[in-house]
Amino acid sequence: MAIYGAETTTDEILEGLDLNGRHFMITGASSGLGEESARALSNAGATVTMLARNQDKLDAAVERIKTNVPMAGIQTGIVDLADLSSIRSYAEGFLQKETTIDVLINNAGIMACPFMQTKDGYEMQFGTNHIGHFLLTNLLMPAILKGQSPRIINLSSAGHTHSDVNLEDPNYEKTEYNAWESYGRSKSANIHFTRELVRRYESELQSFAVHPGVIITELGRHLTPELMEEMVERVKARSTSSSEAKETGGLPFKSMEAGAATQVWAATTSDLEENNGAYLGDCQVGVEGGNPSENGYLPYIYNEETAKELWALSEQLVQQEFLSN
Ligand SMILES: NC(=O)c1ccc[n+]([C@@H]2O[C@H](COP(=O)([O-])OP(=O)(O)OC[C@H]3O[C@@H](n4cnc5c(N)ncnc54)[C@H](OP(=O)(O)O)[C@@H]3O)[C@@H](O)[C@H]2O)c1
Repeated sequence: MAIYGAETTTDEILEGLDLNGRHFMITGASSGLGEESARALSNAGATVTMLARNQDKLDAAVERIKTNVPMAGIQTGIVDLADLSSIRSYAEGFLQKETTIDVLINNAGIMACPFMQTKDGYEMQFGTNHIGHFLLTNLLMPAILKGQSPRIINLSSAGHTHSDVNLEDPNYEKTEYNAWESYGRSKSANIHFTRELVRRYESELQSFAVHPGVIITELGRHLTPELMEEMVERVKARSTSSSEAKETGGLPFKSMEAGAATQVWAATTSDLEENNGAYLGDCQVGVEGGNPSENGYLPYIYNEETAKELWALSEQLVQQEFLSN
């Protein structure tokens, strides 16, 4: 097993790998970690379907990749994860045209926004980060199950430490909204979803949840000085292993190439066969109780009952049941 770490880059992960003939689909690929993953995977020969909600931003991202990788095999699609009808219509169109997806990287995300709702009335962070990906993944499952060693990678975050999911009031109808708590709930949901996918489809696919590290991207667009201060306090409080992290609020920033490396590793490595369903950080398997700024996670994210209940709640919210076949 190769030894990787916080500074390993996407190109280092893919060195020597030939991804010709493999099809990767990435949500939220119009910027940040999704775009960098698309660049690196297409540079290694993969066909990449880049999904985003904004056509102009997506076109600009494709343009940047083609400048860097002229032969890149890129396909695109428009899907708004905050709108169930947009997801349904994209998935239906995709399945009519194409048969297989080898790896789906559920990368799109929104962080710490003010209280907002999706088109269908769900709280925006839970609705986009979890519910949108829950529906998209399940609708695309026929194509994923036909993939070669299929995988589903869900972008989570050390932010899962802000809160576990709230199955009683997922859309803040009764409780007072807190932007970081809501992000935490949605990023915990990404991990429970990963675990339940593996429980249901264990012999048929692999799935991993990824904390990419801290990378300056457009994800921070909703941050105010107050929210930054609250985050630093939360990070200081949760830091377990590094005294520097405790003092500074521990935000060891990564480059884009190092930030996207863990999801690219999860999507391509053969080193994780024994770890199906794992939470990953810094290109390593997660460690319960370790430093969340690295690859540490809190035990509640591996609770099997919560994962089953979240799946049932998600089915209720999208008004569709998905059976393991
Ligand atoms: N950057 C970090 O430090 C960090 C740390 C931990 C976890 N993560 C996770 O990493 C993932 C990627 O984030 P990033 O840092 O690369 O941020 P980013 O540059 O803001 O990328 C997020 C992508 O998601 C898209 N998106 C947002 N809402 C959407 C919707 N309703 N429908 C479809 N697409 C939507 C955005 O498109 P628009 O631009 O059109 O909104 C954008 O393409 C996220 O899941 C995030 O939670 C990031």
